[in-house]
Amino acid sequence: MVNNFSIDVKNLNKHFGDQHVVKDFSLQIDRGEIHGFLGPNGSGKTTSIRMMCGLLTPDSGSGHCLGMDIFTQRDQIKRRIGYMTQHFSLWGNLTIRENLFFISRLYSLEQPKALVERTLSELGLLSRQHQLVKVLSGGWKQRMALAACLLHKPSVLFLDEPTAGVDPKARREFWQTLHRLSDEGISILVSTHYMDEAERCHKIAYLSSGNLLARGSIQSIIQAQNLTTLKISGSGLTVLENRLQRFDAIEQTVIFGSSLFATGRDEEKLKAVLAQVIPAEYEIQRVKTTLEDAFACLMKNDNEKSLS
Ligand SMILES: Nc1ncnc2c1ncn2[C@@H]1O[C@H](COP(=O)(O)OP(=O)(O)OP(=O)(O)O)[C@@H](O)[C@H]1O
Ligand SMILES: [Mg+2]
Repeated sequence: MVNNFSIDVKNLNKHFGDQHVVKDFSLQIDRGEIHGFLGPNGSGKTTSIRMMCGLLTPDSGSGHCLGMDIFTQRDQIKRRIGYMTQHFSLWGNLTIRENLFFISRLYSLEQPKALVERTLSELGLLSRQHQLVKVLSGGWKQRMALAACLLHKPSVLFLDEPTAGVDPKARREFWQTLHRLSDEGISILVSTHYMDEAERCHKIAYLSSGNLLARGSIQSIIQAQNLTTLKISGSGLTVLENRLQRFDAIEQTVIFGSSLFATGRDEEKLKAVLAQVIPAEYEIQRVKTTLEDAFACLMKNDNEKSLS
């Protein structure tokens, strides 16, 4: 091993034609770490994932996955990682069990029967093993796809939006499985658009237009933004929100039910704006800034920078 990181890439770049879609991308992931990967559509998450697992050659940069070079040892890497693609790509006309057997043959895995039985049991798929994959619900399909990429006992998992469109209960169960795998020492890079999932990760990375805007623990990312959030409770909130948005001291606003949240960088200026705009009968409370607030501000600043 070059070092102890399961994934260690530095300054990866990728162009498609004249579009520079991933820019100087660096990331390190420890053994057993669940690393979230966030960013708007088209920000370069899938492209970065494909470079890290040796499926796509970067234009420049360097990196290792499980100590193996992502440029020169791509075939060895593929045998040690599991990759769950963004779009479901298993065989709908086969049952869960048949799919797993088919995959074990494709990869010439030893003792396929034992592997399939173990995986079905560990992923809680035994009761559904004889169902055709095309009739499964979204949650079961994703569980099946996870089983397929765990069959060969990989040490690193790349999961590209594994729970998109899956209901909350199935997502919760899926994440329980991810934490169990992490406890077993498997490193996981998982892309998601869901904030609640981001908060379940040990660390996260946030990509925008191919640039890594933030990286670290949830707490450190929120703290680094140094924001204050105030909650305003009452009725007629959209009118107040419109008024607040005209002030520079307001970074962003959002309404949840009967509460309006206003976030700013300078606490005193934020309070002064609220004192001016919000009528006295409204209750105002300081609350914790959320990860979503922090990302919204990061994006806003990044857009302003690219426009200036
Ligand atoms: N094979 C390709 N050829 C040309 N352009 C591509 C190719 N793959 C991706 N792109 C472009 O690169 C950019 C980044 O795409 P990518 O799929 O990595 O984003 P993403 O963050 O995964 O988005 P999403 O959240 O929608 O999955 C997009 O503008 C996309 O159109
Ligand atoms: Mg993608």
